[in-house]
Amino acid sequence: MKIITVIGARPQFVKAAAVSRAVSEHNRAAGARTITEKIVHTGQHYDDNMSKVFFDELHIPRPEINLEIGSGSHGRQTGAMLARIEEVLLNETPDVVLIYGDTNSTLAGALAAVKLHIPVAHVEAGLRSFNRRMPEEINRIVADSVSTLLLCPTATAVENLNREGVDHGVHLVGDVMYDSVLYNTRLAEKSSDILDRLGLESKSYYLSTIHRAENTDDPSRLTGILDAFSRLTRPIVLPLHPRTRKTLGAGLETLTDRVRVIDPVPYLDMLMLEKHARMILTDSGGVQKEAYWFDVPCVTLRDETEWVELAQAGCNRVVGAEAKNILQAVREFETLNAVLPENRPTDLYGDGHAAEKIVECLVQL
Ligand code: UD1
Ligand code: UDP
Repeated sequence: MKIITVIGARPQFVKAAAVSRAVSEHNRAAGARTITEKIVHTGQHYDDNMSKVFFDELHIPRPEINLEIGSGSHGRQTGAMLARIEEVLLNETPDVVLIYGDTNSTLAGALAAVKLHIPVAHVEAGLRSFNRRMPEEINRIVADSVSTLLLCPTATAVENLNREGVDHGVHLVGDVMYDSVLYNTRLAEKSSDILDRLGLESKSYYLSTIHRAENTDDPSRLTGILDAFSRLTRPIVLPLHPRTRKTLGAGLETLTDRVRVIDPVPYLDMLMLEKHARMILTDSGGVQKEAYWFDVPCVTLRDETEWVELAQAGCNRVVGAEAKNILQAVREFETLNAVLPENRPTDLYGDGHAAEKIVECLVQL
């Protein structure tokens, strides 16, 4: 079987690494290369610290094809990807195209494949924020609607698809990001010295990431978030996404000393920063779940989340971007000494073998 994997943005490198490893293990167990995987990197993310470091650190097979599309408006970027992915698929004639998550690279991979009648397998199918102003929500809905295999991370995702009348090809496999955290935390413990380098003590600091369009493109929301950060009583470490750095520009200099802005960090360093954080404040999808896996309370800087189980379990407070609401949530978690509820479920995202299940589904297909 020949798979073409289409990826392009940071979280997709983390997810694809887990599945590529499972593909290699499958071939090893079979004693032959029964599955061939070729990785196509759209070039959506291109800075070394947003792309290359992940391939180096996670030992993802080098993308044999890098389309180097780069940044652009939604239409321009997605359109350029679509045209180039189509050429690749016509040349490669894969049995299946594997896509991840909800970025413009996901959308382009899905559309290019389905138009050529190549089955699409979507990892992280069925997630919904029910906010169609989010570019990611449109990307997910379209990707799901043209996918043959819908590989869901959660029971909620399966329910969302069922509610939309989709039940064929739907598989609850668990979350590949959990596989990735389990596998890489051991490596990170040995190799990362990020806490020492930043002079941080475990559980003494907060960690934040901000990059969602709804926050970076709305000055009042970004101001609300940064206003809250400057009023926190502990240092907050902020590995800053290039999008947010560009938006803030000179405004970065007005932040107080307690807000420690650093460049995006490699994945293993990020895992250690998350594990030892006292609390995480983020608008990222992946980081919300990583907080839970490390038993760290999370304040989500959005008006809704796709990972509703975390909020229901009391591990995550979804507060939006107003300073007073952010500070209130931080205070509430501090009142609990930044400890998650004892009775929280611990198996919300599968058993750490999602990638193997995905490979099994691909083989069945
Ligand atoms: C994209 C995804 C988002 C995902 C995020 C992960 C879409 C619509 N959005 O958002 O769902 O959560 O990736 O991080 O696909 N830039 C650089 N260097 C880079 C990459 C980006 O400077 O290597 C800057 C450019 O100014 C670019 C901006 O960041 O215009 C936004 O990049 P883009 O890939 O369009 O969206 P993200 O915000 O990264
Ligand atoms: N991440 C990282 N370094 C950083 C910020 C994030 O390695 O400086 C990792 C993070 O641990 C998670 C993934 O990138 O595995 C999440 O990506 P991002 O927040 O960009 O996208 P989202 O999950 O919101 O789509």
